Amino acid sequence: KEIHKIRASLLDWYDHNQRDLPWRRITQTKEIPVKEEEGEGEGEGERERRAYGVWVSEVMLQQTRVQTVIDYYNRWMLKWPTLHHLAQASLEEVNEMWAGLGYYRRARFLLEGARMIVAGGDGFPKIVSSLLKVPGIGDYTAGAIASIAFKEVVPVVDGNVIRVLARLKAISANPKDKVTVKKFWKLAAQLVDPHRPGDFNQSLMELGATLCTPLNPSCSSCPVSGECRALAISKLDKLVLITDY
Ligand code: ADE
Repeated sequence: KEIHKIRASLLDWYDHNQRDLPWRRITQTKEIPVKEEEGEGEGEGERERRAYGVWVSEVMLQQTRVQTVIDYYNRWMLKWPTLHHLAQASLEEVNEMWAGLGYYRRARFLLEGARMIVAGGDGFPKIVSSLLKVPGIGDYTAGAIASIAFKEVVPVVDGNVIRVLARLKAISANPKDKVTVKKFWKLAAQLVDPHRPGDFNQSLMELGATLCTPLNPSCSSCPVSGECRALAISKLDKLVLITDY
């Protein structure tokens, strides 16, 4: 019962309040021909193009704030609009493009991953278990790509999602603890909407980034405030601060 309400409320909120970010627009970008000129009939479909954009953006977002990433992402996509373009790049070019983002290892993983996927000839990996074989793709990135681009019903958990779920369920735990993180992956897996996993996962991340912030969360605008146990507790007992989660 409650789970359906939470899903519906989050998705409806996301539909009306999601930020307009360039990697969310990929399916509408029509300038790039779907078939690569030189590819032997091995064109990327829209989902694979989306997967590439999600991959690049999520890797960039792991270390940098959204506002900064937008610029880097747009420049990256202008230079290498598809996985096949990236696979042709040199490490020097990639590092130059990455300058200022830090953790250059991540840029190298993107390049090596692109080359590996293109060399494999089977297109973009579409499920978490295959995505995890690509260098640099871990649970978070695999979950994001599989759910957002390919609609696999899998969760995505980052710091924002942990905070949102911890408040929603009033779970007090150290988000840096490995056992805790495992617990939240399990919880998120039970919660993820089977029909719109990508949007659902992004709604949790979006909520954590915009309303359910570490300090002074905007509970009065929150689509799931009615289901939030931390908020309920804080209303009953002023001594329990919801920022403790
Ligand atoms: N932060 C990192 N990835 C995100 C996404 N896909 N949506 C919202 N916030 C994010």
